[in-house]
Amino acid sequence: MTSGGDAPGMNAAIRAVVRTALYNNCEAFGIYGGYQGLIEGEIRQLGRYDVSNIIQRGGTILKSARSVEFKTVEGRARAAQQLAEHQIDALVVIGGDGSFTGAKYLIQEHDIPVVGVPGTIDNDLYGTDSTIGYDTAVNTAVEAVDKIKDTASAHNRLFFVEVMGRDAGFIALRTAIATGAEAVLVPEIETDLTDLEHFLEREYNPKNSSGIVIVAEGEKSGGAYTIAEKVAQKHPDYDIRVSVLGHIQRGGSPSQFDRVLASQLGAAAVDALMDDQKSIMLGIMNKEIVHVPFNKTIKHTKNLNPELVPLVRILSV
Ligand code: F6P
Repeated sequence: MTSGGDAPGMNAAIRAVVRTALYNNCEAFGIYGGYQGLIEGEIRQLGRYDVSNIIQRGGTILKSARSVEFKTVEGRARAAQQLAEHQIDALVVIGGDGSFTGAKYLIQEHDIPVVGVPGTIDNDLYGTDSTIGYDTAVNTAVEAVDKIKDTASAHNRLFFVEVMGRDAGFIALRTAIATGAEAVLVPEIETDLTDLEHFLEREYNPKNSSGIVIVAEGEKSGGAYTIAEKVAQKHPDYDIRVSVLGHIQRGGSPSQFDRVLASQLGAAAVDALMDDQKSIMLGIMNKEIVHVPFNKTIKHTKNLNPELVPLVRILSV
């Protein structure tokens, strides 16, 4: 099953789960439409050819959804009944921490073995250096900002570019470093508008330079439009534009990194289930596959790389 926001590489993970299951003489079933699909019995057996030619495709062939019903005891009971009726012994959930929280309750209430594969562009899961989809999303954002830089420079403009990341600034920070942005604003760090303005006064001259400020969607002081407006009020001489990259970051063909990661984690998920494990997420730390208890990944928050945060400012003097 894929659950929550889709991410490039989810198909590669589905393929790896199905093929590894078949390799181990197990049957594989796809649940269509996340937990809601499970509750409604949207379940079909998958053979090796059902997952052919999908490793390079974005989105998810199993579709994805966020289910309100699964958050209730009754909804989870219906889900467990569907699994029993289809004689499904174990479940692999590809998604983010909301999906793993749901899985944790399903295990507690119905003793169904579930393991998780981290799939979200936001990279905000504790216990893995990278989530499936993050690398591709950053590549997409970098490509877009590179293009914005061309036009920004042609007009000596200051751009505020909003990237995805509801609660986390991983995409924003990495994109900022990779594009040589002047500044980055993330939810994890309180925005100091005065400091930003002083910095821009020093670094951005609307007569002969351009600038890029990357703003994560979840930035706490109001987001790209609000900040741009405040800066514009103080500096009517600045030529400011805002660009929101949006869902373009969620689609597209996964990078080789995400395809390989998804293949490794999908296969490791099946191995873990065959090894009688449950209630864990598969992750990658320092290039090694790791098992992280759901409790741990749900409870802890992954921090931004503390070395990258000051680097944006240092490299834009
Ligand atoms: O969790 C991934 C993500 O893309 C976030 O970065 C973003 O805030 C959210 O999903 C958008 O969700 P939706 O597509 O449901 O609007």
